Amino acid sequence: MMVAASARGGEYMPGNKILITGAGGQVGLEAVRRAPDYGFTPIGLTRAELDISDAAKVMQTVKDIAPTLLINCAAYTQVDQAESEPDKAHAVNGRGAKNLALACQAINIPLFHLSTDYVFDGNKTGLYLETDTPNPTSIYGATKLAGEQAVIEHCKQYIILRTAWVYGTDGHNFIKTMLDIVQNHGGQKNGHVSVVNDQFGSPTFARDIAKTLLEIAQISQNREHVASGIYHYTGDGTTSWYGFADIIFKELAAQTNIQVRLSPTTTKQYPTPKNLKKAKRPINSALDTTKISNEFNIFPIDWIESVIQVTREIIKQKESQT
Ligand SMILES: NC(=O)c1ccc[n+]([C@@H]2O[C@H](COP(=O)([O-])OP(=O)(O)OC[C@H]3O[C@@H](n4cnc5c(N)ncnc54)[C@H](OP(=O)(O)O)[C@@H]3O)[C@@H](O)[C@H]2O)c1
Repeated sequence: MMVAASARGGEYMPGNKILITGAGGQVGLEAVRRAPDYGFTPIGLTRAELDISDAAKVMQTVKDIAPTLLINCAAYTQVDQAESEPDKAHAVNGRGAKNLALACQAINIPLFHLSTDYVFDGNKTGLYLETDTPNPTSIYGATKLAGEQAVIEHCKQYIILRTAWVYGTDGHNFIKTMLDIVQNHGGQKNGHVSVVNDQFGSPTFARDIAKTLLEIAQISQNREHVASGIYHYTGDGTTSWYGFADIIFKELAAQTNIQVRLSPTTTKQYPTPKNLKKAKRPINSALDTTKISNEFNIFPIDWIESVIQVTREIIKQKESQT
């Protein structure tokens, strides 16, 4: 049974009001939608409602709302674009995270924060553990790492969830890009798409990330304690972007009469739009998720199952719009 929000030294006291920043993004929208299933009342703020890079406004808003927990889904997520505007990316991913950490600490509440597989350089053979040393190869990865460090430094109670290759039914993501290419550049039978097959990771459904964060919040309330730390959570299994696209197009073929000819290409060969610097992405950024399973009994869901489900949902959305 939930009671009113309150806090005492270092313990996570029950309460049902949670603040979700970046509420207009893929994970943010899902977190707001799913929060009531876990007994929480979400207060979702989009970028227009709360810019996390505004330190004074963040502090005031957190104090005024006085939630029992803050889930930060806000981030600068344009990986290539960040190479051309590092200050903008850092203002959100680095200083924004620090602003939230300071505000959460000021009212003694936990901060749940999202980070990325791109904090790693990708040179490891095998799955990355939470204890592996980050070494980002891109501005985006470096700013996200700065955000992690700020959360750890400035907030006592925190969960940092590193995830990867996020997609969902909202916003921009790889599934939508693949389906849009087919629709816009043919939509015809026997269309042709090339996708890189030399970067490996784990596609992750935004809804599963949101549910994982909310489940950890619920468990932490019941324990009256947050097991502060970094945790990895992705879809179960590893693939390349080519393998990811293959599942999307197989499901497209199953649902419609559209057949796409998919061919593999390499990162080197892949064209970048003019005037856009290209970020260096890790070759292998698959994350080991044993820690989250051991601590919270949370087990990642097979990436293929979730990709099929979301591809179907997006195809339906598109059909209802035409
Ligand atoms: N997407 C991925 O593939 C991926 C992979 C690994 C980790 N992650 C991490 O997972 C988290 C959620 O990602 P996502 O896919 O849900 O991202 P998303 O769909 O791009 O959502 C991010 C949201 O943050 C908002 N935002 C940007 N700047 C802001 C600011 N200064 N103040 C407040 N809000 C701001 C954006 O608003 P606007 O749309 O108005 O800019 C957007 O609504 C992020 O921490 C991201 O780094 C994502």
